[in-house]
Amino acid sequence: MSETWTLLRLLRWTTGFFRDKGIDSPRLDAELLIAGVLDLDRVGIYLNYDRPLTAAELATIKPLVKRRGQREPLQYLLGHTEFWSLDFKVSPAVLIPRADSEILVEEALQKAADVGELLDIGTGSGAVALSFAHEKTNWQITGLDISPAALEVAVENAQRLALDDRSRFITGDLAQLPEKTFDLVVSNPPYISAAEYRELMPEVRDHEPELALLAAEDGLACYRQLAAQAQKILKPGGWLLLEIGYQQEQAVTQLLAAAGLTEIYCRQDYAGNPRVVSGRCSA
Ligand SMILES: C[S@@+](CC[C@H](N)C(=O)[O-])C[C@H]1O[C@@H](n2cnc3c(N)ncnc32)[C@H](O)[C@@H]1O
Repeated sequence: MSETWTLLRLLRWTTGFFRDKGIDSPRLDAELLIAGVLDLDRVGIYLNYDRPLTAAELATIKPLVKRRGQREPLQYLLGHTEFWSLDFKVSPAVLIPRADSEILVEEALQKAADVGELLDIGTGSGAVALSFAHEKTNWQITGLDISPAALEVAVENAQRLALDDRSRFITGDLAQLPEKTFDLVVSNPPYISAAEYRELMPEVRDHEPELALLAAEDGLACYRQLAAQAQKILKPGGWLLLEIGYQQEQAVTQLLAAAGLTEIYCRQDYAGNPRVVSGRCSA
């Protein structure tokens, strides 16, 4: 290599490469990727612009830059992400937790008493279940998922966050939920229809698990199954909270009403889109 690769030079090159590959936020992604590999924060990058990179550092970063250029999500490349200000391991076995799903945690916390039992259906990385467990030390948390590979990640996250004493993770299909009742049931199920799935960004469509995203019929299949079992899995007075897609408020509200739930309410996210529909089992 003729010229030394300083941090600034690498940052500029990577930003240009990502821009050419159609990545939405090329500079930010370049900063986060380089900072992640070098174990710096973003301010650390600015303070080290002139630092030359070693051959070993370049050998680690180069293949990751290439993979990001092929639209692999940054979070999978770095192996972790932040949710609810906690650090979660992620792998291609799990959906990358989205900031929008923090609304589900917020709503669940508002409905929670001091002690109780929560079931998170389609728990994936465990992000929602474990964020709730982090806040509510006296609750017993169960995360359920059909994917054993996802549950391995959830269990590892519980251990990493020292929340394994009050959480457990079980394999199961939301079409046939356990014969047990809970004070709170939350779920961010797959809710993308086949037509919408084809239009997703390559990061999502080509790299995140299809099982976590795609729902049969019109994208509402999981909601139909969950609503049908709501009375079976909720204690009297218990709440069901469902994350929804922005066009699904009316359909999901109707499903919960038809299932006999009351106090049905839709909470918007911070972008103003309908995000979480909740309903209550009569006492
Ligand atoms: C949208 S992801 C949500 C992951 C996580 N709760 C989150 O919010 O980041 C949906 C999850 O549901 C799981 N899943 C899909 N079909 C399922 C089924 N029939 N029964 C149980 N879980 C299912 C997927 O494996 C995936 O982890």
